[in-house]
Amino acid sequence: MLTTRAPAKINLTLHVLGRRDDGYHALESLVAFSGAGDTLSLSPGDALSLDISGPTSSAAGAGDDNLVLRAARRLAAEISGLRLGRFRLEKRLPVAAGIGGGSSDAAAALRLLAKANHLAPDDPRIIEVARAVGSDVPVCLDPQARMMRGAGETLGEPIRLPLLPAVLINPGAPVATGPVFAALGLRPGASREGAAHSDIAARPGAEELLAALAKGRNDLEDAACLQAPVIVDALALLRGAHGCRLARMSGSGATCFALFSTRRQAVRAASVIRAQHPGWWVKTAVLR
Ligand code: C5P
Repeated sequence: MLTTRAPAKINLTLHVLGRRDDGYHALESLVAFSGAGDTLSLSPGDALSLDISGPTSSAAGAGDDNLVLRAARRLAAEISGLRLGRFRLEKRLPVAAGIGGGSSDAAAALRLLAKANHLAPDDPRIIEVARAVGSDVPVCLDPQARMMRGAGETLGEPIRLPLLPAVLINPGAPVATGPVFAALGLRPGASREGAAHSDIAARPGAEELLAALAKGRNDLEDAACLQAPVIVDALALLRGAHGCRLARMSGSGATCFALFSTRRQAVRAASVIRAQHPGWWVKTAVLR
């Protein structure tokens, strides 16, 4: 049996530069990954199947539209004789949460299928299938912090982040990505003013990174807050936490993250928020 982690993806910044003629939005985003994640295993075999367990398994569903199965079927259509098998997914990440849970699962499935079939992880057919399955799948294939551009298909070199203690919180309101982008009201071909990113160094120090992030933003935050107003409360709680250096929403929400100078501050903030909102998903993490 082969096993891999499917870590949560966090958009430390997410700038919408405009909308392309194909309808997708052109983005510039600094993406990082957290220790929190799902776990996927594969027992290689001829037939394809998926079993899901774990705290958020009922929300994810093991139906045909699960991204693990979609990725596997698409790769099998590209590569004749591909060995498939029985996938088992331990689902811990909240779904429709802006942290790429489904995308990371799909990328993990492609990594496992590559291994089971002795394919290079960067085989062009794997990258092509990743793009076809979802915008966030390519960046999740090799989960390391990096700049992501276009609609997720252009990836920068890995960035070595400083040790950044973080708290991730999800207030339990699922957010659909399409409507959040649509709410920006950009026509195909439109570009936005003042959207450029300040470049991040390959190995930024903590203060250097925090200063760069402070100049950035998540352009989907306002639209997501209209769809799920509880995000406003989540951000306020994080911003009010002792030692919080920066709090922002990830992806199209509703998960928000906060960065702290010390792990102790992050642990303290998480326990305060957990006590106030026992139903929320609250995790401490180190982003990389
Ligand atoms: O690629 P994915 O299926 O994850 O995207 C979901 C939806 O989000 C797309 O159908 C599109 O409406 C919107 N989207 C976008 N621009 C992006 C990424 C997603 O408009 N860069």
